[in-house]
Amino acid sequence: MPIHASGEGLVVPSGKYVVKGKNVLITPDTEIGDGTVIWHNVNLWGCRIGRNCIISSYVEIGRGVEIGDNCKIEAFVYIPPGVKIEDDVFIGPRATFTNDKYPIAGSEWVISPILVKHGAVIGAGAVILPGVTVGEGAIVAAGAVVTKDVPDRTVVAGVPARPIGTREEYERKKAELLRRAKTW
Ligand SMILES: CC(C)(COP(=O)(O)OP(=O)(O)OC[C@H]1O[C@@H](n2cnc3c(N)ncnc32)[C@H](O)[C@@H]1OP(=O)(O)O)[C@@H](O)C(=O)NCCC(=O)NCCS
Repeated sequence: MPIHASGEGLVVPSGKYVVKGKNVLITPDTEIGDGTVIWHNVNLWGCRIGRNCIISSYVEIGRGVEIGDNCKIEAFVYIPPGVKIEDDVFIGPRATFTNDKYPIAGSEWVISPILVKHGAVIGAGAVILPGVTVGEGAIVAAGAVVTKDVPDRTVVAGVPARPIGTREEYERKKAELLRRAKTW
């Protein structure tokens, strides 16, 4: 029987995690770590979520999905069964993970697992195809369709996603933007 945790906008402490949103559905076989915060209209179907994560509104996480510590999952993200996300991963709004390469309604489904390694970043609206591994510290650009494994610390963009840069360049650009932002 699902648990419906409805917060009326207030903090609802469970003992280890906090539901700040309304209309949150968490099945009893879901495990959630200390310090994780869950916002509005989230469905968690028997998944495992680590410590200090943020699960934003309208996120759906399927049975058996594993999510590490310190992950930030933005609004409208879809994570079906077969996905594993390691620690310190950022997932931008409306990113979609897929698990069945040849879906047919009413037919059996075959899961091809997806792995997102430590520290990776998935941009807004990206689509990750079944069976793909996103490497450690890799960056997937907004709107990319990822059809192949992404090497560690590589930036990929486009449809289909192709390498366009490195994590080092990405961090350098971010540091520069931050530096300029502070002087405005
Ligand atoms: C991928 C990304 C990091 C690249 O940033 P960047 O290194 O500054 O790249 P630039 O803006 O200098 O663009 C370099 C080239 O890549 C292209 N490009 C940039 N982002 C792209 C994207 N998301 N998809 C396709 N091509 C992209 C640019 O058009 C440009 O092509 P050109 O050389 O032919 O003109 C950035 O565009 C991005 O997508 N960030 C993620 C944003 C996001 O989803 N945030 C979520 C929080 S809200």
